[in-house]
Amino acid sequence: MTAPESSEVSSVKDLLDRPVVVIGMMGSGKSRVGRGLADKLGFDFYDSDKVIEEKAGATVSEIFEKYGEAKFRESERKAILELLEKGPCVIASGGGAVMNPGVMEAIRKKAVSVWLKTDVDRLAARLEKAGGRPLLKQGDPVQILTKLLEEREPVYSLADITIETGQDSFNKTMQDVLKGLCGFLKQGKV
Ligand code: S3P
Repeated sequence: MTAPESSEVSSVKDLLDRPVVVIGMMGSGKSRVGRGLADKLGFDFYDSDKVIEEKAGATVSEIFEKYGEAKFRESERKAILELLEKGPCVIASGGGAVMNPGVMEAIRKKAVSVWLKTDVDRLAARLEKAGGRPLLKQGDPVQILTKLLEEREPVYSLADITIETGQDSFNKTMQDVLKGLCGFLKQGKV
């Protein structure tokens, strides 16, 4: 038997008329939280990295290696702008997607954004065993993550909703995201 739907889930389902975009650093849990949220709400889920990989027939690492970061960023910008036209759905964006020209502006106009805010130590620990992050291969991961977070934080902080993920479990983060979305939508800001 499935658990009864929470009042937050039904409110978000009723009120949401545009995509939810989950933003934040690599390793912050965007894909897992995004997919969980989409499942709970019964909306489609898109992961911008996966969309790019499917279109290119190559992994993110292969695209970086063969064509360079600039080419990847251009595909990423296009992919996000296309996904923003899909109506209510959940999108997990690649960590650097919001730094592409015009992307954060488009997200702010066309979506509700959720920043999963996570500190560098936790990101580094989570990413230690994860492959497929070409930017982390260019030097010391902690230094790279620190620099990227410094550059990106002013943009991430433009999100409609900020959720500090800290030491929280996945379930707690999911609850916080739903609560944040519900509160934001009920204020009629959309
Ligand atoms: C990147 C994050 C990755 C991927 C690429 C670049 C970044 O996505 O898009 O490796 O610049 O932070 P995730 O945030 O899903 O790991």
